[in-house]
Amino acid sequence: MKPVHRAFPSTRPRRMRFDDFSRRLMRENRLTVDDLIYPVFVLEGQGQRDHCTPMPGIERLSVDELVKDAEHWVELGIPAVALFPVTPAEKKSLDAREAWNPDGLAQRAVHALKERFPQLGVITDVALDPFTTHGQDGIIDDSGYVMNDETVEALVKQALSHAAAGADIVAPSDMMDGRIGAIRAALECDSHTNTKILAYSAKYASSYYGPFRHAVGSASNLAGGNKFNYQMDPANSDEALHEVALDLQEGADMVMIKPGMPYLDIVHRVKTEFKVPTFVYQVSGEYAMHMAAVQNGWLEEEKVMMESLTAFKRAGADAILTYYAVKAAELLAGRA
Ligand code: PBG
Repeated sequence: MKPVHRAFPSTRPRRMRFDDFSRRLMRENRLTVDDLIYPVFVLEGQGQRDHCTPMPGIERLSVDELVKDAEHWVELGIPAVALFPVTPAEKKSLDAREAWNPDGLAQRAVHALKERFPQLGVITDVALDPFTTHGQDGIIDDSGYVMNDETVEALVKQALSHAAAGADIVAPSDMMDGRIGAIRAALECDSHTNTKILAYSAKYASSYYGPFRHAVGSASNLAGGNKFNYQMDPANSDEALHEVALDLQEGADMVMIKPGMPYLDIVHRVKTEFKVPTFVYQVSGEYAMHMAAVQNGWLEEEKVMMESLTAFKRAGADAILTYYAVKAAELLAGRA
């Protein structure tokens, strides 16, 4: 017989964790395929596909291969892709004019995807770094300083060319001041009323972008340079709210926080404060970090992938750009 006066906790949270059914019933956040956006690197040429070395499992694809692979992503129900063109060196210049070439790689990729899969959301990156010889996101003066207003004019041309090619969402990732307002006004004037803007509002000057810069070929151009005078200081958080407020005033439809996992506090603050569509980017370095541990047998890929993506939901993200999008969608569909 048990002693009558034995103390027991009046509340036992473990009781609800005992059964699978009660764990399911009280689960607060759930990742679904509707949360996922797949970032893709696009190559010139035909029948081209190669691996991005610092990003195991990720391939760069020429437009024809992209359209082939997209069939699977659409079948899985992935709502949207984000395109990142790899610009050949001979097309890079000081004024980044290839960025708004109506026949450029990004524009052709958008057109081909929308023609074949009208229901797939296509997001384009509005920034000049893949197109400049120096790898900065803008047009520089003689001292190397990225000139804001001249760069915004170029970004407007780039965004218009993406919209003309059929992009559903243009995503300025450059952090110039005033670019959202300028792009919104130009889109309206050009009858692209329903072209949406996903503003990389809180984009930090992060060291986690390294593998991406290798994949798009801007790392060597940047050659030790940095983006400290336009991307945000990782030490700041109120400043992110200020940036989000400005982009919303200027007409952003969605805001983005980038990188992801080291900045979950920012995701939470932005969603709590503004209650607008809040997206987050699990960037190349986060993916590379996970995969390095997976390849060493230190972490279990599927588990750590799902945990990291669920953490974004818990923090308040509405959608997640992630190189895991296809693997996560396969797992959610029970097809891994
Ligand atoms: C370009 C751009 C970058 C990323 C997305 N768009 C690189 C940078 O700002 O240097 C990084 C994405 C990633 O690391 O996965 N402006």
